[in-house]
Amino acid sequence: MRPIPNPIDRQSDLFKENTAAYRADLATLTERLRFAIDGGRGRARSIARHHDRGKVMARDRIDMVSDEGAPFMELSTLAGFGQADDEFPGAGIVTGIGLIHGVPWMFIANDATVKGGSLFPAGIKKQVRAQDIALENELGCIYLVDSGGAFLPMQDEVFPDKDHFGGTFYRQARMSAAGLPQLSVVLGGCTAGGAYVPALSDEVIMVEGIGRIFLGGPPIVKAALGEVVEPDDLGGAALHTRQSGVSDYMVQTEAEAYGLLRELCENTNQKRIDERHGWLDWTEPKAPAHPAEDILGIVNADTRIPFDSRQIISRLVDASEFAEFKPEWGTSIAVGFARIWGHQVGIISNNGIIFSEDALKATHFIELCNQRSIPLLFLQNTTGYMVGRDSEIGGIAKNGAKMVAAVANCRVPKFTVLIGGSYGAGNYGMCGRGFNPRFLFAWPNSRIATMAADTAETVLTDIRLGGMSGAQTTSEEIAEIRSTIRSQYEEQSNPYYATSRLWDDGLISPLDTRDALGMCLALAARQDAPVTGDRIVYRM
Ligand code: COA
Repeated sequence: MRPIPNPIDRQSDLFKENTAAYRADLATLTERLRFAIDGGRGRARSIARHHDRGKVMARDRIDMVSDEGAPFMELSTLAGFGQADDEFPGAGIVTGIGLIHGVPWMFIANDATVKGGSLFPAGIKKQVRAQDIALENELGCIYLVDSGGAFLPMQDEVFPDKDHFGGTFYRQARMSAAGLPQLSVVLGGCTAGGAYVPALSDEVIMVEGIGRIFLGGPPIVKAALGEVVEPDDLGGAALHTRQSGVSDYMVQTEAEAYGLLRELCENTNQKRIDERHGWLDWTEPKAPAHPAEDILGIVNADTRIPFDSRQIISRLVDASEFAEFKPEWGTSIAVGFARIWGHQVGIISNNGIIFSEDALKATHFIELCNQRSIPLLFLQNTTGYMVGRDSEIGGIAKNGAKMVAAVANCRVPKFTVLIGGSYGAGNYGMCGRGFNPRFLFAWPNSRIATMAADTAETVLTDIRLGGMSGAQTTSEEIAEIRSTIRSQYEEQSNPYYATSRLWDDGLISPLDTRDALGMCLALAARQDAPVTGDRIVYRM
């Protein structure tokens, strides 16, 4: 493979201005991640109370269980951001993939310093998403349970529907039956919904003095039965480990619990992260020839100025080498083979609008990756499929649909990163959320919507004015309509709006993207071959 040529001028004014703007974006990202970790109204008080009870914070718990120095890929840290008056930093739950004895596990840890670890809608969505990732990637789950269950004031949005609380228990039971261990450590008052997580686990550890399990807590028991009972007498570690049998092990401290949990993991017979199954070619990894920091200067701060996706690829892949397929045809899309952390991968990346040729080239390439069992990485930066009479005559609707159908039916693992715009059906053809990529990450400069705010302002204003035919509309009223539409689109296409609603698995820095993708590919490589049966390639 040949390295991608590097025409970047790091001394240019544009490069320097872009870098400065992107660094400011990254500072905002860091500040908001910090908020999710320990910010929010009244949080300092609840964190202090948590510590006073001798309890450890959720992320430190994960750290105490995990292999020393091993990476932890946290997911959806900003779930819930800006929602519900920001009362749920991080959506009250920490999820992510970490290693124990070299084996990857999905961690699901309640954050009791956020509304007693109870879950509001984004929290439930985050738990469901973590479980779905675990199932697809064949990961056992470790639940660090410290939760008041459903956030009761919003019970209609977290309790009854398909992917609500019931769906988390359904997934837990199904994963266990699929041979994916479900292990719990009980570290707080786990009431009702919180109680079923350990109750449905394969093995349960309780920490005496802090861990409690009850279907109804002391206030409910008093109201229902008139019984007055102390929490530990109703559902403490001793009761559940020695009498009810709800728990299997009892320990005195959190540190002891994590030591024991690591021992339990030794007998779960799961594959290590480096246990490659052999269907995916792997060679010794090589660092990219150009630093990832360059990406900050390559991505234009002014989103109307395009950038070449090959320059991004060359900062993500091994030795910056890219075997581009069909480079002379359908040039708005760059596709080809590369390696990330040694794993072979097919990359499809946009350079703006998708024309018919681009859609056909991408379709052909998706088929090649299926034929060869090579995972696919989509780097989205598109305003969507080309519109207009010429384009319609050229069959953009059917050609775009071929790409969309190929993505939907593609059997190799797919991964998506939003590196710029993700607009219109371009989002679909480039493997947006609806097309089930195994992981979908977004950069803080990305935007996601049916169309860009500029376009929406014109289109929707025209539609609105068309519907008011005959009525007199003043220029002030038109300006008001335009500005309302524009601000709605700007707000809703913002990456923080998207990540808050779990349209992605997390906003990540371009500087961390190669490592995140390396982890995703390693997870896929430890599973069985994804493609069996027909591997037809139709030339487009
Ligand atoms: N719904 C809504 N809010 C809840 C909640 C729930 N299920 N569980 C806890 N909270 C809130 C509390 O109102 C409190 O809010 P505030 O900080 O705004 O005052 C905060 O979480 C902390 O709760 P608190 O009771 O002070 O903490 P604790 O550590 O002493 O006890 C629990 C934690 C979870 C054991 C206890 O709050 C509890 O039993 N909650 C009710 C659980 C329940 O009945 N769930 C049924 C779900 S189906």
